[in-house]
Amino acid sequence: MPDETLTVTDNRTGKNYTLPIIDGTIKATDLRQLSVVDGDHGLMAYDPAYLNTASCRSAITYIDGDAGILRYRGYPIEQVAEDATFLETSYLLLEGELPTATQLASWTEDIRRHTYVHQNVKKFLEGFRYDAHPMGMLLGAVGALSTFYPDAKHIDDPTNRYLQRVRLMAKVPTIAAFIFRHSRGLPYVLPRNDLDYIGNYVNMTFEIGGRHDPNPVLQRALDLLLILHADHEQNCSTSAVRSVGSSHVDPFSAVSAGIAALYGPLHGGANEAVLTMLDEIGTKQNIPVFIEAVKAGKGRLMGFGHRVYKSYDPRAKLIKTVADDVFAQTGLNPKLEIALELERIALEDPYFVSRRLYPNVDFYSGLIYQAMGFPPDYFTVLFTLGRLPGWIAQWEEMLNDPEQKISRPRQVYTGPEVREFVPMARR
Ligand code: ACO
Repeated sequence: MPDETLTVTDNRTGKNYTLPIIDGTIKATDLRQLSVVDGDHGLMAYDPAYLNTASCRSAITYIDGDAGILRYRGYPIEQVAEDATFLETSYLLLEGELPTATQLASWTEDIRRHTYVHQNVKKFLEGFRYDAHPMGMLLGAVGALSTFYPDAKHIDDPTNRYLQRVRLMAKVPTIAAFIFRHSRGLPYVLPRNDLDYIGNYVNMTFEIGGRHDPNPVLQRALDLLLILHADHEQNCSTSAVRSVGSSHVDPFSAVSAGIAALYGPLHGGANEAVLTMLDEIGTKQNIPVFIEAVKAGKGRLMGFGHRVYKSYDPRAKLIKTVADDVFAQTGLNPKLEIALELERIALEDPYFVSRRLYPNVDFYSGLIYQAMGFPPDYFTVLFTLGRLPGWIAQWEEMLNDPEQKISRPRQVYTGPEVREFVPMARR
């Protein structure tokens, strides 16, 4: 028994139990011994939406939501954002350590060699309607990659996992760019291996007539936004990747489950929802009426609030500085004024203050993406590009964790007791 323990009395039986406390947790399975009669399967922990349940041990990302702290592999997000590139950050998340120059060069080169996708990917993207939502297309296309790389099912082989890691990092930006072009009816632009990771993605997205004039400030801003989104421990989409991956399906299928989760407006889809909300508000004068409606339970202030952060999301702070750089290049997004005023009012309003609701990463990111030329329904695709290394790192960590098994929560059954089936003729 470890030094730290919890002693509980089961008042149903009067029995005392001493449960080990390890890393600030008790094991939910230790509660099973608290039973009333033999065969009742013991006590369970009831935790809908996992408000207070640690589902894994993880050495990837640390968050202190009260203090507004976010660290990747121990490095503060502010320092990573200041000094690293997105590919360097991805290496850090996936390998656990910052790369040397040689390691980064080889990681970059491996990805560069895999940027092309099979021509048939183009064909099935063409099958989507012209107005298909980019996230629907992306989750379908990434899931379908598993049919192009059936070898990806060999998840126990680290060399094979590395190959799929590289394929995902290399091909998802290509697919994302094709999706952007599809929505506009533009021909797809093939990857250019003379460009860097971000430069190639931006070129595939925006090149017209063989030309695209890269803007280094906007490219660095995009690189930074991807860094800020790269991992966020056990959020909804990462939990989806882990949960689906725990069935030992291939990583393309597991990641496409993550994309599906990210699509939702309460998660990554919030950046799109923020823009819709700002459009609906229209002018600064309409903000008080909007805020009153939110407080009356008619909708939410999108881009505000977080399950874990109960203070200012450190990513939102960094994004505000990115916004300054971007708007200096592109001119001010008129919606920024409304967003800033919304934030000011909300941060003083007792409703938001008492619930500790602050801007999250999505509150300002959409405004930046829009200034860069991306339409709102595409914003979450950019979030996906950023979150990809986090999902893969978490997936591999899950596979290598001897404590993990197929993910399978329990339930409290609330349906009818056993009853006699009534045949159709007697109903
Ligand atoms: N606007 C208004 N009220 C809110 C908001 C909001 N954005 N967020 C939470 N609240 C209120 C709830 O109504 C609730 O009030 P109550 O206690 O009177 O019922 C209280 O604050 C607690 O909210 P919960 O929904 O219990 O908090 P939860 O942790 O489940 O939700 C979430 C977190 C989903 C992010 C929520 O804050 C929300 O819906 N925000 C808007 C959507 C959004 O921006 N999502 C992006 C999250 S960041 C990301 O995924 C990248």
